[in-house]
Amino acid sequence: MTVDAVAGAAYIVAALLFIMSLAGLSRHESARAGVVYGIVGMILALGSTLALTVADAWGGSGAALGLSLMAVGVLVGAAIGLWKARVVQMTAMPELIAMLHSFVGIAAVLVGWNGYLTHEPIAASLLGIHNAEVFIGIFIGGVTFTGSIVANLKLSGRMSSRPLMLPGKNALNIGALVVFLALTVWFVADQQLWMLIVVTLLSFALGWHLVASIGGGDMPVVVSMLNSYSGWAAAAAGFLLNNDLLIVTGALVGSSGAYLSYIMCKAMNRSFLSVIAGGFGIAAPTSKDGEEHGEHREITAQGAAAMLTGASSVIITPGYGMAVAQAQYPVADLVARLRDRGVEVRFGIHPVAGRLPGHMNVLLAEAKVPYDIVLGMDEINDDFASTAVVLVIGANDTVNPAAAEDPGSPIAGMPVLRVWEAENVIVFKRSMATGYAGVQNPLFFRENAQMLFGDAKEKVEEIIHAL
Ligand code: TAP
Repeated sequence: MTVDAVAGAAYIVAALLFIMSLAGLSRHESARAGVVYGIVGMILALGSTLALTVADAWGGSGAALGLSLMAVGVLVGAAIGLWKARVVQMTAMPELIAMLHSFVGIAAVLVGWNGYLTHEPIAASLLGIHNAEVFIGIFIGGVTFTGSIVANLKLSGRMSSRPLMLPGKNALNIGALVVFLALTVWFVADQQLWMLIVVTLLSFALGWHLVASIGGGDMPVVVSMLNSYSGWAAAAAGFLLNNDLLIVTGALVGSSGAYLSYIMCKAMNRSFLSVIAGGFGIAAPTSKDGEEHGEHREITAQGAAAMLTGASSVIITPGYGMAVAQAQYPVADLVARLRDRGVEVRFGIHPVAGRLPGHMNVLLAEAKVPYDIVLGMDEINDDFASTAVVLVIGANDTVNPAAAEDPGSPIAGMPVLRVWEAENVIVFKRSMATGYAGVQNPLFFRENAQMLFGDAKEKVEEIIHAL
C-alpha cells in the first residue's frame, strides 16, 4: 500500500473524528469526549500530512533542509502552544482564541502569496481557477488576520470597546467589497503582482475596520464570526495546497462558526447580516454616559446575610466579575447552605455572560453546582417578579435595564435578565464602573437595589461567615 493511500484513509478518519468532536462539544456531558476526538483527529491529520511531505520530498534537492525547517517549526509551535494553554487564565480565553484566528488568517495570506509566486505548471484551462483561489484566499485570510487582531486588542482591553464610527462607514465597507470583486475578475483574466498587493492591503484595512466598527456588546458574535472566517480561510488554503482534509476541516469550522454566530445574534436580538457587515444599519448610540442616574444605596455583607436568611426564594445571576474573582467556589458553598435552610436558590444565566459562550456554566459545573438549578435566561426571566432576593454577582451589561427601556442605548434591544423586577437586588462589584459595553447601568440607582462593594469572592465569604 502506498503512503498516499494510507494518508488518504487517515484523512477520512480524521475528518470523521472532527465531526464527532463538534457533536461532542455541543453538550456538557459529552464535551470531554469531544475534546479527545478532536485531539486524536488532529494527531492523525498532522501525522499523515508529515508522512506525505516526507515521502514527497525524500531524495529531492534541499529535502533535508526543508524537512528540518518543518520539524523545527512544529516543535517550536507546539512548545509555545502548550505553554500558552497552561498559563492562560479562563477569563483571557476569548482574546487567546482571537489571536489564534489571526494566525489562521495570516497563514492563508502566505499560502496565497506562495501559490502565486511558486506553483507547478498549470494547464491554461485551469489557470483562471488557480488565480481565483489565490485571490479569494488572500482576501479572506487578510480580513481574518487584522479583524482578529482588533478583536484581541478589544477583548484584552488594549483598545476601546466602543464602536469606531467613521463617517460613511457602510459606504467604505461596500466600496472595499466592490473593489475586491472587480479586481478578482481582472486578476483571473490577467494576473498582475500589483493587484495582489492591493487586495492584501485592502483586506487588511477592511478586516480592521469591520471589527473596529462593532461595539463591546456585540463582541461575542464577532468572535464566533471570526472563528467562521478562519475556517473559510483554512478551506481556501486547502484548495491551493490541494489538501482535502484542510478543505473539509476549514468548511466544518467555517459553517459551525457561522451557525454559532447566527444563534448568538438571535439570542441577543441582533441582525446577523448587520453584525457581519461591521454594524451595517446600526445607528450611533444617542444616550450619553455620565447622565444623572441619582443616588445609589449600599449594603454590608452582614446586611446581605440577614436579607438572605429571611428570603423564601433567591436567584443568582453571575457575570464576568464572578470569573475574575474566582468566586464560584464560595458561591456554591453559599448556595448549599441556603438550600439546607430551606431557601429556594436558582441561577439565571445570560447567553453572553462572561467572555465566552458557556463561561458561567463551566465555572458553576467546576464548583459542583447541580445542573438542575442552573437555568437559561428564557427559562428564568418570568420568575424575577416573584423572587425575594436577586444576587447579581459581577454581572453588569447582562442585567442592564437600559437594554430593554432606553432605545438610544448602545445595547438597546439586547435581551437581558430582568433582575430589577425582584423585591430586592444586591449587586456585587468593586466600584460604580461600567460593564464591558461601556454603558452605565440604571439598575444600580433603583429603589430596590443595593450595592455590595468589594471583590466578589471576599464578599461572598463574608456573607457565609455572617450566616
Ligand atoms: P460585564 O458587563 O463585563 O460586567 C462585569 C462586572 O464585573 C463589571 O461591572 C465589574 O465591575 C465587575 N467585576 C470585575 N471584577 C470583579 C471582582 N473581582 N469582584 C466583583 N466584581 C467584579 O459582565 P457581564 O454582565 O457578564 O456581561 C458580559 C459582557 O461581555 C457583555 O457585554 C457581552 O456582550 C460581553 N462579551 C461576552 C462574550 C461572551 S461570548 N460571553 C465575549 C466577549 C464580550 P467593577 O469593575 O466595578 O468591579
